[in-house]
Amino acid sequence: MFIDKMMNTSKTRSTMWLVGVVVVFAVISNAFGAHGSSGKISDGSQNALDNGAGRLGPYFDKAASKNVTALLGKTAYLNCRVKNLGNKTMTLQVSWVRHRDIHLLTVGRYTYTSDQRFRAIHQAPTDDWTLQIKYPQHRDSGIYECQVSTTPHMSHFVHLSVVEPTTEIVGAPDLYINRGSTINLTCIVWYSPEPPAYIFWNHNDTIINYDSPRGGVSVVTDKGDSTRMFLLVQQAKPTDSGQYTCNPSNAQPKSVMVHVLNGEYPAAMQHGGQAKQPRLYSLLLCLCLLLY
Ligand SMILES: *[C@@H]1O[C@H](CO)[C@@H](O)[C@H](O)[C@H]1NC(C)=O
Ligand SMILES: *[C@@H]1O[C@H](CO)[C@@H](O)[C@H](O)[C@H]1NC(C)=O
Ligand SMILES: *[C@@H]1O[C@H](CO)[C@@H](O)[C@H](O)[C@H]1NC(C)=O
Ligand SMILES: *[C@@H]1O[C@H](CO)[C@@H](O)[C@H](O)[C@H]1NC(C)=O
Repeated sequence: MFIDKMMNTSKTRSTMWLVGVVVVFAVISNAFGAHGSSGKISDGSQNALDNGAGRLGPYFDKAASKNVTALLGKTAYLNCRVKNLGNKTMTLQVSWVRHRDIHLLTVGRYTYTSDQRFRAIHQAPTDDWTLQIKYPQHRDSGIYECQVSTTPHMSHFVHLSVVEPTTEIVGAPDLYINRGSTINLTCIVWYSPEPPAYIFWNHNDTIINYDSPRGGVSVVTDKGDSTRMFLLVQQAKPTDSGQYTCNPSNAQPKSVMVHVLNGEYPAAMQHGGQAKQPRLYSLLLCLCLLLY
């Protein structure tokens, strides 16, 4: 009876506890949900007149006025397409303002800034008001505002990201390979708008010749969003150890140290041609010896 009661209370307690947890969870997720919706960033455009077929005033064509990712040093174009500016072109102006310091860059076809890298581009019958930025630098990244001089004025924000191609070698800085297995090095070039024109690999500061007497060396290039290059060295020998460097034509080189293990470690360690770090194994071995 007593136990029964105790079990009952503990059951009730655990049920209450569970309910409590559920409530807390619900509150948290609600808070997050609410935060998610209220914290949602608007796309930064405020149209003076509501979007709709029968609109009278000018409006932004957002699909043609998108965020821009530019390559460091390569001329960038920020576009602002204003529809329905109509015959008001004489009185309504389209301007570009840099948000960071509220610096007026262009007004209509005129470039206002003294920074020679900026230029206003507009070709008469089009609705495009383009801001050209020559030699973009990292510090040019940020928000640019396209303004139409209505009252109140209309704004559309365009984000510019200035990036540079970066090189990565998967598994760097150290790779451990079992003797006899295939060394498979993956070099990735990120943020490269165009795939590198060429890429070469070095081994201990010597360019790898794919037709060398060593044989079994090949390179595979996979061009997509990022460019991936695989260097395959079959039947790894201890002399294949050393530093491998991936040199893409349009990005910084990156290196990896390859250690070809001379059979000191069990074959079971091999994993997709690449051995796991031997440190853990030696540690385990030491522990076993100590225990023994
Ligand atoms: C602008 O267009 C409207 C009608 O489309 C016309 O009534 C008006 O005179 C035009 N204004 C100018 C300055 O051309
Ligand atoms: C432009 O980029 C900003 C910042 O990354 C982002 O918040 C915004 O949603 C983007 N706008 C569009 C239309 O993609
Ligand atoms: C080399 O490794 C990559 C993953 O990094 C894999 O996609 C590719 O198939 C591998 N190539 C060979 C021949 O094992
Ligand atoms: C490259 O250097 C490593 C040591 O860093 C050496 O073990 C290996 O034999 C060298 N290989 C060649 C081909 O020079």
